[in-house]
Amino acid sequence: MAIPAFDFEYLRQLVRQQSGVVLEPHKDYLAALHLDQIAANAGFASIAELVEHLKHTPLSELHLQALEALVIKETSFFRDRSPFEALKASVLPALIQSRSSQRTINIWCAACSTGQEPYSIAMLIREAFPELSAWTIRLIATDFSKQVLDRAQQGQYTDLEISRGLAPELRDRYFRKAGDAWQIVDEIRQRVEFRQLNLIHSWSALPKMDIIFLRNVLIYFDIDTKRSILNKVQHYLQADGCLFLGSGETTFHLDPRFEAIQSKTSFYHRLRSA
Ligand SMILES: C[S@@+](CC[C@H](N)C(=O)[O-])C[C@H]1O[C@@H](n2cnc3c(N)ncnc32)[C@H](O)[C@@H]1O
Repeated sequence: MAIPAFDFEYLRQLVRQQSGVVLEPHKDYLAALHLDQIAANAGFASIAELVEHLKHTPLSELHLQALEALVIKETSFFRDRSPFEALKASVLPALIQSRSSQRTINIWCAACSTGQEPYSIAMLIREAFPELSAWTIRLIATDFSKQVLDRAQQGQYTDLEISRGLAPELRDRYFRKAGDAWQIVDEIRQRVEFRQLNLIHSWSALPKMDIIFLRNVLIYFDIDTKRSILNKVQHYLQADGCLFLGSGETTFHLDPRFEAIQSKTSFYHRLRSA
């Protein structure tokens, strides 16, 4: 079902105002694909009727459902591998040394989608750094979408999701078959603290972080929003903390206070020392 241009423009504005995400102008066919079911479930005969209703009513659960359906939520376990290799080979070993008196490390996945990213970090820590079980490791995972957070918190994945990025040994160790799905074991699930947080709003409820994963989300924002988010990152990242972005993302030309650090297989960002 096609979406008339003026309806798609309304949806683009809704998404941009509420999440900062800029939908590409020619992706109206994708919007049609995602909104069809929402329109039908809410009792509308077409997407045009749904949009007409959204336009003339105050922000509601239905607006949020439409918005969440239109934002890209693509993710996978150990996505791109190299950031996780850098965590294991250099970033966590260095933090373990520098935090040996406090014995506390704060890690934040800032747009965690359905949870594969924070659970990958939790599995990596459990596998490679068993000594950290005696430390306080806060692994906070946030997203603005309640829909993805509910799924993440549940920790159930399809065969396809499990087959993307997860080594069979880790699957066998940390997942149990639950009907057609794979359920992550409580030991890993309970290590992650999921919270709803919109990156374009206040972050005041967060502690300072030693590691921030802000991956594959900046790419959807305009330049001013990217700058404003990086500015906030600068306040929430410890002076010696590490920022991981997606493989197609950079702070270059956006915020000179960050420098890129090349590790063997990956690169991440740090705040330049004053
Ligand atoms: C493409 S996924 C990336 C997931 C994961 N970080 C990864 O790299 O695999 C982008 C996520 O960003 C979330 N998102 C988009 N805009 C957001 C905002 N303003 N605040 C918080 N999360 C947002 C979406 O809901 C989605 O789950």
